[in-house]
Amino acid sequence: MLKRFKTKKGKDISIRYVCLSDTKDLLEMYNSVVEEKNYTTAVKKFTLKEETLFVKSVLSKIVDRREIFLVAEYEGKVLGVATIEKEVTPIKTHRAEFGIMLKKDIRGEGVGEELTKAVIKEAKRFLKVKMITLNVFEENVPAVNLYKKIGFVVFGRLEKGVIHFKKLKTELLMVKCL
Ligand SMILES: CC(C)(COP(=O)(O)OP(=O)(O)OC[C@H]1O[C@@H](n2cnc3c(N)ncnc32)[C@H](O)[C@@H]1OP(=O)(O)O)[C@@H](O)C(=O)NCCC(=O)NCCS
Repeated sequence: MLKRFKTKKGKDISIRYVCLSDTKDLLEMYNSVVEEKNYTTAVKKFTLKEETLFVKSVLSKIVDRREIFLVAEYEGKVLGVATIEKEVTPIKTHRAEFGIMLKKDIRGEGVGEELTKAVIKEAKRFLKVKMITLNVFEENVPAVNLYKKIGFVVFGRLEKGVIHFKKLKTELLMVKCL
C-alpha cells in the first residue's frame, strides 16, 4: 500500500497498485461512468472478458515500467483509479499521459487530489519522464480545476475536437513538467 488517509467526510481510503482481483470493481466503476454520460472518454461499456484482458495488459506494462496504475479502495472496494502511461514513440519517451476516474459517490472528498499526487510521485520514481500531458473536455469543470490545482497548465485548445454522444465539444490539452 502506498498511502492511507481520511476523506473530507471521514472515509478511510487506501491508495495502492492495481491487481487482477480488482477487475470486477474496475468494470463496475467504468460502466457506471459510461452510464452517467458525463465529459469523459468512457462512452462504451466493457464486458468482464474485455476488462480482464485490459487489466492483464496494464499489469504487464507496470512490470515493464511503462505505466503506473493506482486504485483508491474504500471498505474493500475499488472506487477510483489514476494512471500515467509512458509514450511509446521513440521521440516521446520523456512524456506520459495521465488519466483519472472516480465513482460518483466518492467525488468531492479529496480522493482525486490524493490519487493524482500519488500517481505523479510514482511516475517520477519509476517511469523517468519529464512531462505529463492530458486531454480534458473544456466543460469538465471539476477535472479542469483539479488539474490546475495540481499544477497542470493549458497549452492547447481544440474547438469541436471531440465527439461526445453526437455533439462536438471542445478539448483542452494540459501539461505538467516534472
Ligand atoms: C475529476 C475528478 C477525478 C475529481 O476528483 P474528486 O475527488 O472529485 O476531486 P477532489 O475532491 O480531490 O477535489 C480536488 C479539486 O478539484 C476541483 N473540484 C473537484 N470537484 C469539483 C466540482 N464539483 N466543481 C468544481 N471544482 C471541483 C477543486 O479545485 C478541488 O479543490 P478544492 O477542494 O480545494 O476546491 C472526479 O470528479 C471524477 O472522477 N469525475 C468523473 C470522471 C472524470 O471526469 N475524469 C476526468 C476525465 S479527463
